[in-house]
Amino acid sequence: MRTGACIFDLDGVLVDTAKYHFKAWKRLTDMLGIDFTENDNERLKGVSRMASLEIILEIGNMQLDERKKLEYATLKNNWYIEYISKMTPSEILPGCIRFITELKKEKILIAIGSASKNTPMILERVGIQGMFDAVADGNNITKAKPDPEVFLKAAEMIGIRPEECVVFEDAVAGVQAALNAGMMCIGIGSPEVLTKAHFVVPGLYEMNVGKLREIENVKQL
Ligand code: BG6
Ligand code: MG
Repeated sequence: MRTGACIFDLDGVLVDTAKYHFKAWKRLTDMLGIDFTENDNERLKGVSRMASLEIILEIGNMQLDERKKLEYATLKNNWYIEYISKMTPSEILPGCIRFITELKKEKILIAIGSASKNTPMILERVGIQGMFDAVADGNNITKAKPDPEVFLKAAEMIGIRPEECVVFEDAVAGVQAALNAGMMCIGIGSPEVLTKAHFVVPGLYEMNVGKLREIENVKQL
């Protein structure tokens, strides 16, 4: 295949926000008396806000009615916003700007495909809101990853067929979403975790157009 567009997940691929999600969930779980560890936080990567709360309640063996769930999810999000509103461009992950600039020179389109409803604020805070040809995020989708909706939406917004898109993802649910969308997927992280990705690199600092061309020539969808 020939890459027409690269679609990037946001959290954990372009910026390291997992620590802020953890801090905010931890504040909530401390309040609720639930023992929640950084290890548990791994299970929340790529998972939507409400689904994350469900996992946390399961860990704490706690049942809540829908009204309370919404109240706590909102509380967590307010704390999360407090943290991300202080983000600066220094929190863009290594290699990200260089790689995206290279892709643009090659006339490859660039989009975001993220579950987060806070995507616009994060992009604005770290100063990269103008870099993308399209942004599909938690505000314009209804189905969470591993459903392919967010990546298909991004492809539709830029007018590129799914089979010409390459997704960069750090979460297992996100890799599955890319495959469900019929797209090539390059995992960001470890191959032991992202077993279904077509190729895995530790971070975007290991990516360049030459490597992308090699992967697209060798790997079959
Ligand atoms: C994903 C994160 O990108 O977005 C998850 O990996 C998070 O941890 C999800 O729960 C939803 O984010 P938000 O900002 O809408 O609560
Ligand atoms: Mg992610």
